[in-house]
Amino acid sequence: MIRVMDRISGVGLGLRYSFAGEVLDSEFAPSWFEIAPENWMGRGGFFRRTLERIRERFPLVCHGLSLSIGSPDPINLNFLKELKSFLDRFEIEIYSEHISFSSLGGSYLHDLFPLPFTEEAVRRVSRKIKEVEEVLERSLVLENISYYWRPPGKMEEWEFINALLEESGAGLLLDVNNVYVNSVNHGYDPYEFIERLDLSRVVYIHVAGHERFGRIVVDTHGAPTIEEVHRLLRFTLERTGPVPVLLERDNNIPPYGELLEEVGKLEKICHV
Ligand SMILES: [Fe+2]
Repeated sequence: MIRVMDRISGVGLGLRYSFAGEVLDSEFAPSWFEIAPENWMGRGGFFRRTLERIRERFPLVCHGLSLSIGSPDPINLNFLKELKSFLDRFEIEIYSEHISFSSLGGSYLHDLFPLPFTEEAVRRVSRKIKEVEEVLERSLVLENISYYWRPPGKMEEWEFINALLEESGAGLLLDVNNVYVNSVNHGYDPYEFIERLDLSRVVYIHVAGHERFGRIVVDTHGAPTIEEVHRLLRFTLERTGPVPVLLERDNNIPPYGELLEEVGKLEKICHV
């Protein structure tokens, strides 16, 4: 159960070490922050204390990197237990992950790979989602990823995502930049893709910047968000109603003030 004071709304920002110390001294701030638990779980000293102080003032959401929910490997129970105590300690209710796999045969691949868009994958991953939810005592929220080769399977991606959410009961973290990137690289209409998704499942939205290399767009999270992604965000919000939006920036991280300006731009889009 999410406590009322911790409900996220408006525009949040992905918290990075490079500006974590500035968050508490700044006059302006995003409404909430998202953290990658893997980056903070084992940290002590300055970073732990800073995170505790940030948590006293802001709602936090966790966005994981290494769950590998789509892998045929069994779930790493030790990791999940460690994660649960971190979520409990910081009173974090929302934990999101990616619809992907990032480990195989016990080895971590350090990237997110798409799942086959098949009924078999829907059933297999749904069973794993329930296992994870039982240990964490929280509902899982799952994000559509960007990918650079079309995985096998007769289903369309939107059809696969809808079936997975339906079968598992998980929520959707809709990354509109990932929809845009995939639409360019795989040649489809991003607006039609959004319209076909079950938008009643959206818990929150991601936006990020990408970079173009010739005909390929790469989801680098290393540049400001662009107008075409803003347009897709507006289109999505017109259909979902107000849902929280999170700005991701993981590379070429600019000064904190610049990120706050970008958060401000996104807030204007959210409040139209
Ligand atoms: Fe994302």
